[in-house]
Amino acid sequence: MTPAVGAGDPEPQPPRPAPGGVAGGAPGDVAGGELGDVAGGELGAEERARLGAAAGEFAAETTYLDTATYGLPPRRSFEALQAALGEWRAGRARAAAYDDDVARGRAAFARLVGVDPSLVAIGTTASSLVGLVAASLPAGAQVLTATGDFTSVLFPFHVQAGRPDRRITVREAPLDRLAEAVDEHTTVVAVSAVQSADGRLADLDDIVAACAGTGTRVLLDLTQAAGWLPVDAGRVAYTVTAGYKWLLAPRGTAYLTVQRELLDDLVPVSAGWYAGADRWSSIYGGPLRLADDARRFDLSPAWLSWVGAAPSLDLLEAVGSRTRHAHALELANRFCAGAGLPPTASAIVSVDADAEAPGRMVAATVAGSVRAGRLRLSFHVCNTTADVDRALEALAGHVRA
Ligand SMILES: Cc1ncc(COP(=O)(O)O)c(C=O)c1O
Repeated sequence: MTPAVGAGDPEPQPPRPAPGGVAGGAPGDVAGGELGDVAGGELGAEERARLGAAAGEFAAETTYLDTATYGLPPRRSFEALQAALGEWRAGRARAAAYDDDVARGRAAFARLVGVDPSLVAIGTTASSLVGLVAASLPAGAQVLTATGDFTSVLFPFHVQAGRPDRRITVREAPLDRLAEAVDEHTTVVAVSAVQSADGRLADLDDIVAACAGTGTRVLLDLTQAAGWLPVDAGRVAYTVTAGYKWLLAPRGTAYLTVQRELLDDLVPVSAGWYAGADRWSSIYGGPLRLADDARRFDLSPAWLSWVGAAPSLDLLEAVGSRTRHAHALELANRFCAGAGLPPTASAIVSVDADAEAPGRMVAATVAGSVRAGRLRLSFHVCNTTADVDRALEALAGHVRA
């Protein structure tokens, strides 16, 4: 068995039918998006039934509280991937058929974050999509970031700042002081909506309001947010999201959203055949003929990863936005209450654990991770109250705020 606590490990570890599972859209999801129904509060019986059906699709052999590192595949995604592997092995896979998987993933993600699919580009990693935004900055641009943010949000800007001809500067401010650090010279604020290290939430209302006053663009990394925290991607200039955590996809799926009026400002620096207006007639020769919409920023897809993307997004959609949010917070707060910690608004809980805690977790096969010297636990649709209680039992007396 692999160790349950990934102490010190690097962050990134580890139309096909969608078989089985929770079917259909959830009541309360609004047409064209999931964002109309985000109020907190108690879960109703019907919501608990949907959560129960979703939880039944997971098959972890550990008490898996580590979605912030990588999400688990629900049965429907696992089965779709098995079928795709079989087709590949048998020489029956068709390259063009993966376009349907990408299209379904793009459309489902667009619904999840409340934008039109024509404003969603796909890629393989968050950093490569942040890199596209960074490479498009005008000379002399000033970038504001949050201290200690995940480096995929930071490094692409620092790379540009390292090019003398570009005269780009990057500064940082503490997450809770980001909005007040915005000034009229700030070109873009780049920040994670939820911090990878400890689950802290960015104050999006304050940041968006400050940036509206100065004409500053906002790039939000939704990798640790989309899937549990309701987010309206259309509020900000750009969002990037890696799909392998809270969106329960294999590694190799990522999304960029762009506000429509900013499409022409972004340079498709990595455009290849997949960004072509008509992909399969864009595979040879000039001239440049890219898609009109955000598809022009598409990076060629990691085919098999996309097979697992849409079924997982379908499961999340079937559970419903409000329900996922309320469930994650219910479990996180059950843990906090049981461990004597203050209540939280995040699905990621970061605690100070003593030296014995990792060993106790391994013994109890409770999977979490260590980030920034603290124990990080995450709570998602694969989890139940029984998981929380097993973690509490393993950690009793060994954690504090
Ligand atoms: C906030 C955030 N962004 C991005 C990533 C992943 O980045 P990439 O897809 O570039 O590996 C992570 C991984 O932990 C993350 O926490």
